[in-house]
Amino acid sequence: MEYRKVAYLPMTFVPYTKTFRFNPFGGMIFGHGVVDEIGEEIKKLGANKVIVITDKGIAEAGILQKVKKPLKDAGIEVGVFDNVETNPSADTVNAIAEIAKDYELVIGLGGGSAIDAAKGAATVVTNGGKIEDYDSWGGIGKPPLPIVAMPTTAGSGAEVTPWAVITDKKRGWKMAIGSAYIIPSLAVCDPDLTLTLPPNLTAETGMDAITHAIEAYTSWCNQPVSEALALKAIQLIGNNLRKAVARGDLNKEARYNMLLGASMAAMAHSNTVCGICHGMAHPLGALFHIPHGIANGMLISTVMEFNEMANPEKFENIAVAMGENIQGLTLLESSKKAAIAVRKLAEDVGLPLHLSEFGIKEKDIEELAEEAMKSPDRAVNARATKKEEFIELYRKML
Ligand SMILES: [Fe+2]
Repeated sequence: MEYRKVAYLPMTFVPYTKTFRFNPFGGMIFGHGVVDEIGEEIKKLGANKVIVITDKGIAEAGILQKVKKPLKDAGIEVGVFDNVETNPSADTVNAIAEIAKDYELVIGLGGGSAIDAAKGAATVVTNGGKIEDYDSWGGIGKPPLPIVAMPTTAGSGAEVTPWAVITDKKRGWKMAIGSAYIIPSLAVCDPDLTLTLPPNLTAETGMDAITHAIEAYTSWCNQPVSEALALKAIQLIGNNLRKAVARGDLNKEARYNMLLGASMAAMAHSNTVCGICHGMAHPLGALFHIPHGIANGMLISTVMEFNEMANPEKFENIAVAMGENIQGLTLLESSKKAAIAVRKLAEDVGLPLHLSEFGIKEKDIEELAEEAMKSPDRAVNARATKKEEFIELYRKML
């Protein structure tokens, strides 16, 4: 079957003014047990020899076997690279590309790290050079090997995004590699693959996902399509994260709703950019090695309090989506319920709520604020932000 061409427009930071652009994603199969269908789907993509890019934890949890079986049953030859680290390095991606050049398609199986490593390796195979040559948006000239993404966390949404985050250790730099070419051709979203994710990682990744949804919903780039995706994602995550943390091994419905919420949030933020919460979280990761989801989960309610005056109507909608009762309240009162509900969620799922718990002190705030000022996400945040305000926000979090 010859596929039609789909336009993909440049990533812009232009506020919504009734004219808007919305970029599409690859195909998606979603549901309990859909992993069993992948053999036939991958054959439709023209591949008979595929490599699964994953990590040791996924292999040990038995998830790799669940993926290999339907592939082998369909007569597909399967290779495996199971050594992706958290925050994959450029060296790892380049090493995978060396192996992947003998294959016709890559499968990223895991959280954002494994999927991003698969996107990076698929790029290097067809474009040549090293992954470091493709830093930033739009540097990839040719389609990569076809990419199939199979998420095992409900967090990054890497299965639908045009981004791969790869660490260049030599430069001490996290590269955000972006291109429509690296949107996975197919996202296979089987909530059963997330059942073994432990409670702490469920909490971290879930708070990252709800942060994507909240920042997308309140971004100045938000338009009606992303708005619908983001608000539904807030509702799904807000009402299911506690259940997934409490009994994620048995509560299949909560896992289904979490994975759906995380994917929808990523579809929204891929078209809106994020906001200053992500801008403030990145230096916490780079300078103090705080995991991305924990950093966002700690910051988001304080950032919401700062932002809510910019658009109280939207914050009221977030409060309602989170299940808050706003009857009899003024708009100002109900909008404030959104941050309260999100802070309570972060508390209930056991996230740390203070920077001091990571050894961060008053003397560190100046540098953190300076780094946050460099974030492109700042350009479209609900409320304009100066360095003094970043200092104040970080100080509140101590
Ligand atoms: Fe994130």
